[in-house]
Amino acid sequence: MTRFSKVLTLTTCFGALLGMLNTTAMSATIEGGNARRGKELAIENCRPCHIRGAEAGTMSPISKTQRQWDRFVKKGRHYKIAPGAWEPITEQDLKDVFQFMYDHAADSDQPQTCGR
Ligand code: HEC
Repeated sequence: MTRFSKVLTLTTCFGALLGMLNTTAMSATIEGGNARRGKELAIENCRPCHIRGAEAGTMSPISKTQRQWDRFVKKGRHYKIAPGAWEPITEQDLKDVFQFMYDHAADSDQPQTCGR
């Protein structure tokens, strides 16, 4: 019983802490990348597959809203729909790419495409 309530207290504290972190960093998934570098990287690494007429279809920051980009990354959707496609791309490069996508998403202040 005491052991159980101890665990309960711990869980509650932890939950509160997590809640605090959540409010200070709401969109923690896409943060801290270099968007300028990300654009170059996207053109280099993503565009070869994501061109008009190709199987993967066109893809640009404006393809999604910030919320949708966040969920896309959080859920690791690409790994399911196109396994192996991101293998040559490093974690850091992906971080920069998604910073670019996020900062210039459809509902951002500066919506952008990957170039053309
Ligand atoms: C090797 C080819 C390849 C590369 C490289 C690639 N993708 Fe894809 N991507 C795909 C394929 C295939 C799909 C699935 C298309 C479909 O089924 O409609 C896809 C789908 C997507 C989608 C749409 C998913 C959805 O339904 O919401 C996004 C967004 C995306 N890719 C982003 C990226 C980004 C960002 C990069 C670069 C970091 C990238 N892709 C690089 C092949 C690739």
